[in-house]
Amino acid sequence: MKVLILPDAQAATRRAADIVSRTVSATPDSVLGLATGGTMLPLYDALAQRHRDEGLSFAKVTSFNLDEYIGLTPDHPCSYHHYMQEAFFRHVDIDPARTHLPKGDAADPQAASDDYEALIEKAGGIDLQLLGIGQNGHIGFNEPTASLGSRTRIKTLTESTRRANQKYFDSFDETPRYAITTGVATILASHKCLLIATGTAKARAVVDMIEGPVSAACPASALQLHARVTVILDEAAAGELHLKEYYETVHPGGRDSAFD
Ligand code: GLP
Repeated sequence: MKVLILPDAQAATRRAADIVSRTVSATPDSVLGLATGGTMLPLYDALAQRHRDEGLSFAKVTSFNLDEYIGLTPDHPCSYHHYMQEAFFRHVDIDPARTHLPKGDAADPQAASDDYEALIEKAGGIDLQLLGIGQNGHIGFNEPTASLGSRTRIKTLTESTRRANQKYFDSFDETPRYAITTGVATILASHKCLLIATGTAKARAVVDMIEGPVSAACPASALQLHARVTVILDEAAAGELHLKEYYETVHPGGRDSAFD
């Protein structure tokens, strides 16, 4: 894993935006795996700004989001369809026909999951997968004990994830209990992964992901098996890492290498 530690969340966002911009500029028809959550909002803002100010184009990009709540229609204000529309899609030139999210309102969510996995494969797989991390170490909605060999499917959300996401809903009871998520193995099949974590609330999960054993107890730890993962952290999220000084020596100031 390439562990890049930046001074604060703003610098971490800028660093992540550089990587996404470079990918899309080098390969305009990239297949991007997109994530939701509060951590991604400043990244989408930064990318939209680069679209406006620097002409960064997403016109040929294909996108697949990690997950969607079961039972919410795309126009539900708390759906990830709605989140993506508001946070990113409507601010850039991406072709709506090339954007994909799991169909949380499908009559048969498992069939919709199988179709989604097939669509990703048909697109040639994901070139760059963006990821956040849950406080309990989840990626996508792969909650602790999710099979490391899992593909897109229905997952039951833990109480802690529902509590963390409750702020977007009117009450805990209205916070969905189920989601469709791409699997841990789906994520590991991506060509490259870029995970962003900011804030002290993520520090424990970050240690388990980077320095813990590879274990379904922390699904993000499966990223240790992937050869091309970049983790971008701010100081707060990096605060509990045992080998923090080592990562800072290898990647001074969050640069790719000491030789840059
Ligand atoms: C949700 C999403 C995850 C995301 C996580 C962290 O549970 N399904 O993909 O990584 O939230 O969200 P935040 O960035 O708001 O902490």
